[in-house]
Amino acid sequence: MRWWMAALVVGAQLVVGTMVGPDAAAAAEVTTLREAAAARGLQVGSAVSASALETDPAYRDRVAAEFNTVTTENEFKWSVLEPVRGRYDFSRADRIVDFAAAHGQAVRGQTLVWHSSLPEWLTTGTFSQAELRDILRNHVQTVVSRYRGRVAVWDVVNEPLAEDGTPRDGFWLSRLGLGYLADAFHWARAVDPAAQLYLNEYSTETNAAKARGLYELVRDLRARGVPVDGVGFQTHKLLTSRLSALGDVLRRFADLGLDVAITELDVRVPVPADATELAQQAEVYAWAAQACLAVPRCRSITTWGFTDARSWIPAQYPGWGAATLLDESLGAKPAYRRLLAVLRDWQRPGTGPVAWWRLDDWGGTTASDASGSGHSAVVSGTTLGWYERQPTTFALRGDGAGTGAVTAGPVVDTARSYAVSAWVSLTSKTARRVVASQDGAARSAFTLSYEPSTDRWVFAVPLADSVQAGVRTVSSTSVPAVNRWTHLTAVWNAGWGRMQLYVDGVLEMTAPPSGQPPATGWTGRGPFRIGRSSAGEAFAGGISDVRVFARVVDAAEAAALADAAVGRWTFDGHTGDESWFSRDGFPRPEQVGFTADRAGRPARALLLTGTEVIDVRGGMTLWTDRSYTVTAWVRLTDANRDGRPDGAGDQVVASQDGRERGTFQLQYESDNGRWAYKVPVTDSGPTGWPTVESLAPAVAGRWTHLAAVWNAGWGRFQLYVDGVLQGTSAATTSPPATGGLHVGVSMTGGRLTGALDDVQVHQRALQPHEITTLATP
Ligand code: XIL
Repeated sequence: MRWWMAALVVGAQLVVGTMVGPDAAAAAEVTTLREAAAARGLQVGSAVSASALETDPAYRDRVAAEFNTVTTENEFKWSVLEPVRGRYDFSRADRIVDFAAAHGQAVRGQTLVWHSSLPEWLTTGTFSQAELRDILRNHVQTVVSRYRGRVAVWDVVNEPLAEDGTPRDGFWLSRLGLGYLADAFHWARAVDPAAQLYLNEYSTETNAAKARGLYELVRDLRARGVPVDGVGFQTHKLLTSRLSALGDVLRRFADLGLDVAITELDVRVPVPADATELAQQAEVYAWAAQACLAVPRCRSITTWGFTDARSWIPAQYPGWGAATLLDESLGAKPAYRRLLAVLRDWQRPGTGPVAWWRLDDWGGTTASDASGSGHSAVVSGTTLGWYERQPTTFALRGDGAGTGAVTAGPVVDTARSYAVSAWVSLTSKTARRVVASQDGAARSAFTLSYEPSTDRWVFAVPLADSVQAGVRTVSSTSVPAVNRWTHLTAVWNAGWGRMQLYVDGVLEMTAPPSGQPPATGWTGRGPFRIGRSSAGEAFAGGISDVRVFARVVDAAEAAALADAAVGRWTFDGHTGDESWFSRDGFPRPEQVGFTADRAGRPARALLLTGTEVIDVRGGMTLWTDRSYTVTAWVRLTDANRDGRPDGAGDQVVASQDGRERGTFQLQYESDNGRWAYKVPVTDSGPTGWPTVESLAPAVAGRWTHLAAVWNAGWGRFQLYVDGVLQGTSAATTSPPATGGLHVGVSMTGGRLTGALDDVQVHQRALQPHEITTLATP
């Protein structure tokens, strides 16, 4: 190498060095949560205590350094402010408000109206309804006006709902009626019009009844002109909380025109916590932050305390603790480092869909866009909220005459590569039925539809934006089924000049065929339509989960999009549902452990010691009177290594509630030591139990794959063990479930002792080859 070449190489390294240097330094300079959050225009905060601020300098410094918002943990609670009637003591609240002002922090005031922490004179006094309403109004006005301009956000009403989503029968409801809610917001707005007014609630972070109730409550309040600006999600969580639905829940509320916030985040752990648990805890913090970051109207993330030395958890939940970001001596736990990294580095996935209508909106006429690009679609002449693809989930329904859902403008440049995918269920084949399209000037730039002349699914692109132009198409080879949910993916590959159509994740055709010249597309500048084309051709049936990508989707991704599991609990350190339906499992009791999975990876399978079970909430999990499949990996405990499970009775892997008993049981049967899939003739009263048993006895201590398949059309059920069919039963009925799935138990008992992994439920009879794939270790 000549000297000048060497110098160039050195020079190049120097250049690289100086380019990397400042970036790395910039990232390294972000060392606090508040810097990372501020750079995103987000607030990050903690509940703080006035006495700790006063007495503990290290605590004080940390609050100042880490947070740009603080919440009064107790200082605004009525019992603290006005312990004696008429004598308000604002000194502790002042201490926090003054501290925040001195450190450039916003204050969330918690809380004005709550059923708890009320002074004794109030709860034991005898007041007429009118007096009580005056007392409440006076309280709200006194407190809000005193802090006008100094408290930025009020949790005006805290925890107004019961677990089932109906109004909580608490102090205020029972005495004032439901009107107290609207009153409180109006009173607060009147005295401080600039303050943000929130309704704050807990256990509304999943797709369960309480979240629906909250949604309906605030939608109703807003429709009546009640000044609710935002909804707070407390997010007091456990290690097992996957928070898989939180992003969708936040988005639904944001789409009502509300701000949302995570207001009291903590993640409790059975103490003492070990390193694995602290690592799992860090993930839960990360999931919460990611859910908030994905929703532009999510304004803040507040933790309920920030050091384990001062968390409310040990007193409230004996045996639990270690719930916060910092340990007892203010050292950073994994949760702190994960949260900082997420706040600093999180990016909206750049390759995800450019529009994504789940169409599982909780009613209304707006189909919201889960991609974060803001392409919401207005629904008219068609219904959102049809129960169809699954019990308890929703879709867009058209009867062949509706106008579908339409965006304000184009979603994708149809001259470049793009892909459109959707779940569809067709009810009528009498006419062209358009699933999705994007308008050009004279006609749709593409349509994805059912075509009656050929009885196929068709992805069609006109050669030009004129009604006379010919059309280039790619068709399914399979004949579309009626009343069966089918997944379609249409791909326009501009670079290759080819169109492709996938049905249920399998490529059926590519056009034009090889050897022929490539296709070229053109840009449709009009709106995107779901359930019709620019010429009408309305869809008849259900449409769900429509995604648009501004790029090619390949075979692996098309298969993944068509995944038909309607529940998947991987038990990778949590009990969340990884399927599209986000129906998290809830451990009962709350404490549950994890063990190594069949590949030996630690904390990747559920450990059941004979006391814990998992309940899947959020309504019915499967329609058990229609075809379905339940699969699981199971290892029964075998302490003495004789191949037989410990414990005496039956051990249930999974079961779903009927009226008096499970509508099926997939289990170990103690009588004969075999695996069994049992379907009762009826779910109440006397019944027989048609059963399919394994050919050989169950072997405990070994990972085994089980699959139970109910084929409603055929009127048969089947059990597979390790991918091998064990038998078929000629039962002709399967009772309809009335409740959710249980893992590790049935309604009538039979707790499992051992380990469970990758429990899946599908609302169809899986094919034998699909079961073989699932059973492959
Ligand atoms: C808790 C405080 O952290 C405790 O110090 C106090 O003893 C009881 O209240 N949801 C809420 C908060 O809205 O007000 C609660 O705060 C925690 C649960």
